[in-house]
Amino acid sequence: MKRANASRQAAAPIEVHATAKQPLGMPARQFLRDYWQKQPLLIRGLFAGGVDAVAPEDLAGLACEEAALSRIVVRDAQHERWRVRNGPFRESEFPRLGRKNWTLLVQDVDKWDMDVAALLERFAFIPSWRIDDVMVSYATDGGGVGAHVDHYDVFLVQGAGYRRWSIDAHTREYSPDAFRDDTELKLLREFTPTHEWLLDPGDALYLPPGVPHDGVALGECTTYSIGMRAPSRAELLFDFVEFLAEPLTEDRRYSDPDLVPANDSAEIDDAALARVVRAMPHFAEVDKATLARWFGRFITRYRSAQVVAAPAREIGIPALTRRLPGSTVLRNPFSRYAWRRSGRDAELYVAGEVWRCPLPLAQMLASRREIDGPKLAALAQGASVLQTLKSLLDAGHLRLIRRG
Ligand code: SIN
Ligand code: CO
Repeated sequence: MKRANASRQAAAPIEVHATAKQPLGMPARQFLRDYWQKQPLLIRGLFAGGVDAVAPEDLAGLACEEAALSRIVVRDAQHERWRVRNGPFRESEFPRLGRKNWTLLVQDVDKWDMDVAALLERFAFIPSWRIDDVMVSYATDGGGVGAHVDHYDVFLVQGAGYRRWSIDAHTREYSPDAFRDDTELKLLREFTPTHEWLLDPGDALYLPPGVPHDGVALGECTTYSIGMRAPSRAELLFDFVEFLAEPLTEDRRYSDPDLVPANDSAEIDDAALARVVRAMPHFAEVDKATLARWFGRFITRYRSAQVVAAPAREIGIPALTRRLPGSTVLRNPFSRYAWRRSGRDAELYVAGEVWRCPLPLAQMLASRREIDGPKLAALAQGASVLQTLKSLLDAGHLRLIRRG
């Protein structure tokens, strides 16, 4: 009989020691399998003897260059407040910072300094195009940038001196209100460390994205952050679309030589969507509802000559209900309307936005520039319909005029 835990793997340790043969304390393949993008790892002695690729004076010199990206973060230790200043700096500014609680951080130091660039050789098991930069920080005693999360994997290599790192190994999603709003650093309001280590020169802390961490310098120290880069899905898509669009000439357009008289001129019907796919065959992969929603939003925004201005005051639902039967409803001439059937309802597209609403309402709004208030009032029965009308009025796409 199989033992219940026979196939269970022992939990991967969170701390390992580098050896001459295995700087990561294990084969790179094992690190990638068990830790990379998965869980933190402290590697004692990744760079045996520490790293002194760049001296603090040289880092300060680089921070005075126009082209270098640098910041100074000053921590008010008493009140746990933070002040950030962006470079370039003047040499005379550094002595004024005092002996405690500040950090100088310079990004992309590997692009300026060959010794710093050489550190990357230790990470040759990772595709070079995944690596963003080596950021170097010099901190005085008590210096740090506060508890935060990064979106990217990072190896925090202790250069010279000592730094106490605390991490919370439980990764989670953070809502915008998880961050403090009193500093331009994106610092966590709450941080409960699960692990704390004092890093010696040459030690490295690997953190996958989203692991809260906080490093505080014990005396003067330097840290080399080997940061990765990973394009977001939105960036991938935007760039791919630009790439596809680049070779396309202006004369190849949406065309409709097969057009037949419309039942409702504001409808985006299946034949229209088929023509969109004919113009851009890549869209054939996209499901019809998504394609329709995108096209409706796009085509009602396309080549708009004006951005419609909102009225000074929003209308309340009670006022709308009261006024509608005695009004004529005028569409803003610059707001384009279209609709498409969606199940038993419709999607109404107005100037690049979309509302879900009953089909007769979408048809009425999209087909006439001037709408009879009593007829619209008869359709505007439910709360969601009134809300749709309110938002169209509040955005300036519709206007109520008292009937004469
Ligand atoms: C530092 O070097 O002080 C900060 C690095 C980080 O937390 O990402
Ligand atoms: Co960080």
